[in-house]
Amino acid sequence: MKNIVILISGRGSNMEALIAARDAGNLPVRIAAVISNRPDAPGLETAARAGIVTHFINHKGFAGREAFDAALAECIDQFSPDLVVLAGFMRILSDGFVSHYAGRLINIHPSLLPAFPGLHTHQRALDEGVRIHGCTVHFVTPALDHGPVIIQAAVPVLDGDSESSLAARVLEQEHRIYPQAVRWFAEDRLQLANGRVRLAADTADSAVLISPEVR
Ligand code: GAR
Repeated sequence: MKNIVILISGRGSNMEALIAARDAGNLPVRIAAVISNRPDAPGLETAARAGIVTHFINHKGFAGREAFDAALAECIDQFSPDLVVLAGFMRILSDGFVSHYAGRLINIHPSLLPAFPGLHTHQRALDEGVRIHGCTVHFVTPALDHGPVIIQAAVPVLDGDSESSLAARVLEQEHRIYPQAVRWFAEDRLQLANGRVRLAADTADSAVLISPEVR
């Protein structure tokens, strides 16, 4: 069974979706640890309640990004992860960190990348007037919220949507696609080869999910 380490910064609802999938027998991984850069991340308590080893490494205690990333990698590597899963981990990562985990570092982002990298994705989608929005799981490259796409889910933007109603619709899909992506990795169906995502030939045809509302 593959080992995963999950990195969070806050609420940890995507982490919870992964724990729930594991507990339901739908995600054959060992969640070796959950690590936060914020000591007060509510997700740490959730993980501890689920019996998972937790750590925090406060980025504020380090002189710079490289020093923090080195300490973070040292902590992660104690658990010999096959895959490092960024689940609302709100830090820009150094090139050295990203290349250390090449092909085994994935992220979830609340937009249909390459649209809307960075923060406030839902408000920006509303401001632009896009009709379709969503979320993306991708392998991490040194560029922020960028990298080979593993799976995306699309949702409609409805008249009268607020930032929070749109965020909730997207989050529901995040909780579907992140366990799916990790499951593919756990089952050796997912690989990064020459900078491109390869899924095993008989993998379920769900690389793009459109939520029922837009069907
Ligand atoms: C999620 O919406 C995730 O996609 C986003 O942060 C939220 C974390 O929520 N990540 C990013 O914006 C990364 N650029 P959670 O802590 O409840 O999983």
